[in-house]
Order: sequence, then C-alpha cells, then structure tokens
Amino acid sequence: MSSRESFSGNSNKDENGRQFEAIAQDIFEQGYSIQINTLSSNLTNRLCDYVRKIPTAKFYKAGVGRNEEQMVNSLIRSDKISWINDETEIGSDWLSWAGSLQSFLNQRLFLGLFSFESHFARFGVGDFYKKHQDSFKGQANRILSLVLYLNPGWPSDDGGELVLYTGENQEKRVSVTPSFGTLVVFLSEKIPHEVLLSHRERFSIAGWFRLNSSSADRIDPPA
Ligand code: OGA
Ligand code: MN
Repeated sequence: MSSRESFSGNSNKDENGRQFEAIAQDIFEQGYSIQINTLSSNLTNRLCDYVRKIPTAKFYKAGVGRNEEQMVNSLIRSDKISWINDETEIGSDWLSWAGSLQSFLNQRLFLGLFSFESHFARFGVGDFYKKHQDSFKGQANRILSLVLYLNPGWPSDDGGELVLYTGENQEKRVSVTPSFGTLVVFLSEKIPHEVLLSHRERFSIAGWFRLNSSSADRIDPPA
C-alpha cells in the first residue's frame, strides 16, 4: 500500500466494519452515535497537526441560515471555519474515510446519502454555538451530521462540551467532551444541539451528508 491511508482510513478492515456497524445500529435505535477512535490514530493525528497549521486568515466567520439568506450571526455562533476539499493529501484522506462511512450507511440503512461537505472549526476562548438544528424538515438537504474532535487532553473543567437534545421530545441532554478522536454522528433534522462556552482553544471537524437536491435549473454543489 502507498503512504496514503487505505480507503477505509483504518488498517484493520474488520475493526472498521465493526465500528461502522455500531454507528448504524445507534443511528437506527436512537438517532445518534458517540464513538471513540473510529478513525485510525494516524489519520486523526495528521488532522490534528494540520488544523493547527492553518493560518488564521484562512478561518472565516461562519454563517447561519441558507444560501442567499445566509447571514453571519455572532449572537448564535462565534467559531471560525475553514472548508475542507480534496486538494491536499490530508483533505483527500479525510474525504475518503467519510466516503467509506457514507457507503456503509447507505447499504445498511438505505439513507440515500449523496454528498458530503465538511469544515474545520476553531473555537477560541469564550466561543460558543447556541442551540440549533443543522437541517429542518422539508428542506431535506442535510441528513446526517458528523463531528470529530481534535483536542488531545481536554480538561473536564474547560467547557466546550457538545450537548445533544435527544429522546422523543428532545428532553434528554447528552453531553460530549470534545476529546481527541471522539466522533459524534446524528440525524440532522432530529437532534438540536449546542456547543457550550469554551474556555480554551477547541478544534473540530463538522460535516454533513446530504441528499441529492439538484434539479435541472438549480445545481446544488456539496460546498
Ligand atoms: C456545527 C456544530 C458542533 C461541535 O458546526 O453545526 O454543531 O461540537 N458543531 O463543534
Ligand atoms: Mn450543528
């Protein structure tokens, strides 16, 4: 094999299949899944190093809302983002891994996931992302949300937790520490969530699997 990651992003195919199966099972039963070390430590380490080398000028204030209506709303979120493409080796390896998860979930759950978009996110000290949903019923664009955390040794008193509002009536709070290698996958329309105020620099990747919403007069690219 070349110096690149294998297509699965994991040298042990069975182990990868087992973790993907656990994600599928969790999504089916409860609408979300929290896993550790689903990606190889090699790929996670490289993403971790890479995100810290992206120049500040390449991180942008993120928007809230869709397309033309999109506006930057610093009352809702204060993180900065940098979109990922396949022009770098690390970007390409990450997207391959996401592609393998996409294929697995399509075969297993018939979700019809068509494309994937993702960005690095940097929360500085005092940054947050208030309670929101990544997609709303009827828009049917973002189906599955994914977050990967890139923070080695995150202290428990440094805030920055992701809180998922789960259960029938979104009454159950599930809190996730943004530690290195933790992966969260959830149904975009079903699970509102927020990022609590972070007391230290916090890096992650947020991504979304989408349906194909292109039509003859409107091309809807993944990013
Ligand atoms: C998002 C998001 C969660 C996180 O970018 O939409 O909810 O923990 N991110 O970074
Ligand atoms: Mn979100």
